[in-house]
Amino acid sequence: MASRTISLTRYLVEQQRIDGLIPGQLRLLLEVVARACKRISQAVNKGAVGDILGAAGSENVQGEMQKKLDIIANEVLIEANEWGGHLAAMASEEMEGIYVVPNRYPQGEYLLLFDPLDGSSNIDVNVSIGTIFSVLKKPEGHPGVTEEDFLQPGSRQVAAGYCVYGPQTTLVLTVGDGVAEFTLDREQGSFILVQENMRIPEDTREFAINMSNMRHWAPPVKRYIDECLAGKDGPRGKDFNMRWIASMVADVHRIITRGGIFMYPWDKREPEKPGKLRLMYEANPMGWLIEQAGGAATNGMQRILDIQPTKLHERVSVILGSKNEVERVTSYHRQ
Ligand code: AHG
Ligand code: MN
Ligand code: MN
Ligand code: MN
Repeated sequence: MASRTISLTRYLVEQQRIDGLIPGQLRLLLEVVARACKRISQAVNKGAVGDILGAAGSENVQGEMQKKLDIIANEVLIEANEWGGHLAAMASEEMEGIYVVPNRYPQGEYLLLFDPLDGSSNIDVNVSIGTIFSVLKKPEGHPGVTEEDFLQPGSRQVAAGYCVYGPQTTLVLTVGDGVAEFTLDREQGSFILVQENMRIPEDTREFAINMSNMRHWAPPVKRYIDECLAGKDGPRGKDFNMRWIASMVADVHRIITRGGIFMYPWDKREPEKPGKLRLMYEANPMGWLIEQAGGAATNGMQRILDIQPTKLHERVSVILGSKNEVERVTSYHRQ
């Protein structure tokens, strides 16, 4: 047992007070996001009893069939965040345009982006799912807020995190000073710090990729995986293991916890699209968390966080995790 229990609230207050790392408004914002995640966690836990499973019968701007929980989680995040006074606007995987805070509430200086429910295909089968979020500052110098204001590279994020709804509900967060992990204590109703300064081992024997797409991959990705599969007798001289949960949050959480490499690369199925995953609310927050934990994140050619977005729902090829492995795949792309 830890000698003292540190709640998320206390952790954030200390970050604000001792290190001066986060302004009060950002602290409030993160508290509210965490509260929304608690509510989503409760809904997830109820499952069929809470009538939250199954399809909603609608399609989102990505062309994906929405699940009931995609929409519920999106609404929970909006309702929790719109009145607090710390936000100017929000953007989400499940909304076509930005959501400007209604003018009956005060306008704040931050922008919140989220994937309200990540791993939608796992909702109905009781496998880990999550919420991913990213916080930017609204650029100064003009009144109001536009979609343009969101188009900032990931290196400008001021906070990023995710919450996994699994056997435990776990919140993982960075404000640019390493990565901290909190577990939800349901009796207390608060997130408790369980690990500070999470570190990803630089090497790994574990990869995560959807192998069913192998025939569509580009040669550098095929080469990397072929070499892993060759095992001890191949050029890598060691055996590899594979994991693919199909919830990015759960795969990334495993990697932040024990190392590994995650890839959702460009493939020939939709050659005109850079990849499947979304830059602004999946790749950027995860990329920053991974870097903050000592790992690396690229699209094969450049650092994810350096990419200048050109549209809100921009997609990107994603390679992230243990540093040496990510550098290897990236070097195969550059050759
Ligand atoms: P979302 O549920 O938010 O649309 O994201 C799903 C993503 C990601 O979580 C996961 O890594 C990937 O899609 C799984 O894709 P495949 O089903 O193609 O393996
Ligand atoms: Mn989706
Ligand atoms: Mn997602
Ligand atoms: Mn989603």
